[in-house]
Amino acid sequence: MADTVAAGNPDGDPRDPPPIVATAANQYGSGVNTIRPVALRDRWVEWLLHRRHGGDAEQLRRTLEFLGPIRDRVIANARLSPGDVVLDVGAGDGLIGFAALEVVGPTGRVIFDEISEDLLAHLRQLAASAGVLERCDFVLTPAEDLVPIADASVDAVTLRSVLIYVERKSAALQSFYRVLRSGGRLSIFEPINRFGQPRQGEAFGGYDVAPVKELYDRVQAVYETLPTQRTMLDFDERTLLEMIEGVGFTSIKMSYEAEIGFGKEIPSWDRMMRSSPNPLAPTGAEAIAQALTPQEAERYVSHMRPLLESGPPRIRSGMVYVFATK
Ligand SMILES: C[S@@+](CC[C@H](N)C(=O)[O-])C[C@H]1O[C@@H](n2cnc3c(N)ncnc32)[C@H](O)[C@@H]1O
Repeated sequence: MADTVAAGNPDGDPRDPPPIVATAANQYGSGVNTIRPVALRDRWVEWLLHRRHGGDAEQLRRTLEFLGPIRDRVIANARLSPGDVVLDVGAGDGLIGFAALEVVGPTGRVIFDEISEDLLAHLRQLAASAGVLERCDFVLTPAEDLVPIADASVDAVTLRSVLIYVERKSAALQSFYRVLRSGGRLSIFEPINRFGQPRQGEAFGGYDVAPVKELYDRVQAVYETLPTQRTMLDFDERTLLEMIEGVGFTSIKMSYEAEIGFGKEIPSWDRMMRSSPNPLAPTGAEAIAQALTPQEAERYVSHMRPLLESGPPRIRSGMVYVFATK
């Protein structure tokens, strides 16, 4: 709400409230309005706009179909009202932020926070084409500090699939707490990847990889050295809940959803080769090329491809929605 702006500066003249986003950040925001050539763009924008779906329009449609209900739940949990100021941390290509902007209406604002300048440039361009630029701020700052954002200046903080990339999660939660006004809400969605890890002795997706086990392990090792291996697996629903409580949120609710079963569809080998599971990961084809010689790759693919295309994988997935009040 607008009163949070004044709340950020109790000693100031209420008719002249301080900016929610410090001047330096606004300058930063307005500076990131150039779209760089594709070859120079960073991995975050490349993944969200291309590598996530491997250039496959059908896969993109399915991804957005899957994300729609998650977005709606994150927005509903944030309990937004017209006029609210929302901070969308790790805003990506605006899935949550633009939906929030519709709910807060013409008197509300959304601060799009990112660590990717290219995504901020993309968001700025989307906001300009939608005619909503004057209700948006763009801030280049990691979730862990949010330095340009004033204390107690926002009504809601939203995040979808961002903490999984954050090294210092408690520091990030502390900054969300700091920028929220009293009574402000935090609404989070995160996958719980620790639950999704194969159990001891369990084959990948339930497929029999034994005949190419040594090659399979080498391809897997490429993924195991990624920084996401740490940031995605260093928490689960319980530790997340404890961290949120630890930074001072008074009322916290968590909804945890776990599923064990079979996927809905047969994986497309070609799509897997072109796409990557997260912004910091190689595509399937890149991981194979990195780990195996061309001869080994041929043997590996001729075993794995028909196996994967023989039926849906066995899956194990966990995800969590958290909503908390300061
Ligand atoms: C999987 S994307 C999710 C994007 C968006 N929230 C959505 O719902 O589609 C993760 C985003 O988090 C951003 N990110 C990663 N680490 C971050 C950090 N430490 N602080 C802020 N944003 C971060 C990335 O640039 C990326 O856009």
